[in-house]
Amino acid sequence: MAYPITVAVTNNKGGTGKTTTTLNLGAALAKQGFRVLLVDLDAQCNLGLAAGCRQAPHHVGELLLGEASWEETLVKGQNIDLLPSSRLLLSYEHQLNMEPDSGYLLREQLEGRPYDYVIIDCPPSLGALTFGALGAANWFIVPMQGENFAYVGLDEILQCVLKVRRRLNPGLQLAGILMNKFDLRTKFGQSVYSKLTDHPTVRLFTNSVRQDVSLMECTAFGQSIFEYAPTSRGAQDFISVCQEFLQVTATAPIPS
Ligand SMILES: Nc1ncnc2c1ncn2[C@@H]1O[C@H](COP(=O)(O)OP(=O)(O)OP(=O)(O)O)[C@@H](O)[C@H]1O
Ligand SMILES: [Mg+2]
Repeated sequence: MAYPITVAVTNNKGGTGKTTTTLNLGAALAKQGFRVLLVDLDAQCNLGLAAGCRQAPHHVGELLLGEASWEETLVKGQNIDLLPSSRLLLSYEHQLNMEPDSGYLLREQLEGRPYDYVIIDCPPSLGALTFGALGAANWFIVPMQGENFAYVGLDEILQCVLKVRRRLNPGLQLAGILMNKFDLRTKFGQSVYSKLTDHPTVRLFTNSVRQDVSLMECTAFGQSIFEYAPTSRGAQDFISVCQEFLQVTATAPIPS
């Protein structure tokens, strides 16, 4: 059975651009005609809200614990579908912690679903939900803010990925660290960038996402950047990031 190319967008640091990346990378892929599913694994429900889904009858936590079916949980969109979250997801995470196979539950749900790409928005923590996302993913992306100490915490994520590779998902690969709210033309930007390129085991996206107020505004309207401001810097940047993502993921083998 075909398994969709699955990407976890993760950083245990808050506010680095995980939700913004999930929504707009997903929208950029859909714009190219790919069938895209977004998964909101954060109890803040920011992805669902940003994608224009204010209320859903069921959430992904119920799906993972077998309390709701795929059909009951899935919210179908015009060209992107969503597995929504809920404020209740935190208590579901405690229950997931007690399931011996919790790292495999999302993977099992995605098996054979009719999508080209699944993009998962992780919470800003390294708990059962993030492990489940990394267990289900072929690739992961780490959005980082172009600020001082942005890379603090990176080793923690990489250690966590090593554990996931050993115990859960040997095929998990880093698509790249994605610099967000970032300007490589500034001296400061260049110094952060060179620190990260010196890191022995990470791959950095060559393209980055600049600060753009449209990226903040579009979520308030429940729209992607391509619907809200198709000619903005944010839209241009996410098109470039999407192209690079497609190149990177095409050059490495996808584990079945
Ligand atoms: N490139 C950008 N330009 C301007 N605003 C941005 C940009 N990227 C993200 N933002 C804004 O910064 C805030 C944090 O972004 P986002 O919600 O994507 O981060 P997050 O990592 O998902 O946060 P959390 O850890 O809380 O889930 C949001 O208000 C978002 O609209
Ligand atoms: Mg978020």
